[in-house]
Amino acid sequence: MRTSWRKKAADTAVAARPDLLERLAVQTADRVRAQLQRRLRIVTGVEGPFVETGGRRLLTFCSNDYLGLARDPRLIAAWKQAADVSGVGSGSAHLICGHRSEHAELEEALAEWTGRERALLFSTGYMANLGVMQALLQRGEPCVQDKLNHACLLDGAQLAGATLKRYPHADVEAAARQLHGDADACALLATDGVFSMDGDIAPLRELAELCSREGATLMVDDAHGLGVLGDDGAGSATEASLSEREVPVLMATLGKALGCSGAFVAGSASLIDGLIQFARTYIYTTAMPPALAAATHCAVTLARTENWRREKLQALIRRFRHGAQQLGLPLMPSRTAIQPLLLGDAQRAMDTSRALEAQGLLVVAIRPPTVPQGQARLRITLSAAHEEAHVDRLLDALASLPLTDATV
Ligand SMILES: Cc1ncc(COP(=O)(O)O)c(C=O)c1O
Repeated sequence: MRTSWRKKAADTAVAARPDLLERLAVQTADRVRAQLQRRLRIVTGVEGPFVETGGRRLLTFCSNDYLGLARDPRLIAAWKQAADVSGVGSGSAHLICGHRSEHAELEEALAEWTGRERALLFSTGYMANLGVMQALLQRGEPCVQDKLNHACLLDGAQLAGATLKRYPHADVEAAARQLHGDADACALLATDGVFSMDGDIAPLRELAELCSREGATLMVDDAHGLGVLGDDGAGSATEASLSEREVPVLMATLGKALGCSGAFVAGSASLIDGLIQFARTYIYTTAMPPALAAATHCAVTLARTENWRREKLQALIRRFRHGAQQLGLPLMPSRTAIQPLLLGDAQRAMDTSRALEAQGLLVVAIRPPTVPQGQARLRITLSAAHEEAHVDRLLDALASLPLTDATV
């Protein structure tokens, strides 16, 4: 008689393998004990820079909607109109039948804005960076990166099996030493244009000169520069007058200053053709909703033409920095929308964030492992959706807290 699979399974001794979920639970408990756990907050309403959460209305200084476009009625109308015609989902990957005219038109607009030959949409910035690295780099090839680069650039190098070398923040000499050590291999140097947790701008001109001397390819992730920097908001590479030749791989996201979601890579036609063939995060995923592409196209037009948004943002940045300096707050050097206050200790950052929330302000504390140990901070972000009175309210609240004696 044949033994049933149930009996066989019952007879088989259970292997003494550690349980993955148990291990994860232990790691989570460790994080809770260290008071570093991350928590979700449900937002039930949004109005300008205000959110409604937990039954309270809070003035936010933590969104990446730097130009205040996320709720612009023209974007919403573009979304609705496209959804009426094209539906909600794209229905498939770009290479199957999901690549709609809305996507193609947005890609053209992004290429033109950034002064590149072509652009290619990805569903998120995280996927764009993974896809680019995995398409460009082969196992063991050097990928030189700023230590403070966004997590997805670091993950991308690891996914590609590249040899990841991280230089101290903005240290071009150290980057040069790392590239020089591997002179015969293809090499990629990748940097954030604007650093996401610090707000400062990479030394792009010097890095471009280094890459040109070393025959390495420069990749800039301009998630926080696009829309904010450069005369028509074309970003940090344009502000530094760096063309496609000097920054051959330009990536930026659509979920920050453009107020939408998704990302793109811009560069030569041969780069884009290569990504279409080899970037797995482009090939094996559903194309972004066409209505989102239409709304983003509208956002590109507004971000390019409505200079008042950048001017207002810059005026608010100046106002905040001036006030913070007068209060002796531990400001970090930044001229972008990201204006962190460095508090050092994670608990201190959490306590400060809670104290601000008690006063009706939402400013999140950023703690290790997102930032290095001892460098916890309040990541304050400003937006053209803010008014001067909002910045003053933040400064008044900060003035009421014991922040000037920071030991960092
Ligand atoms: C510098 C940088 N690159 C990439 C990303 C990822 O982009 P996305 O949110 O579209 O995945 C982010 C943040 O989200 C970022 O700050």
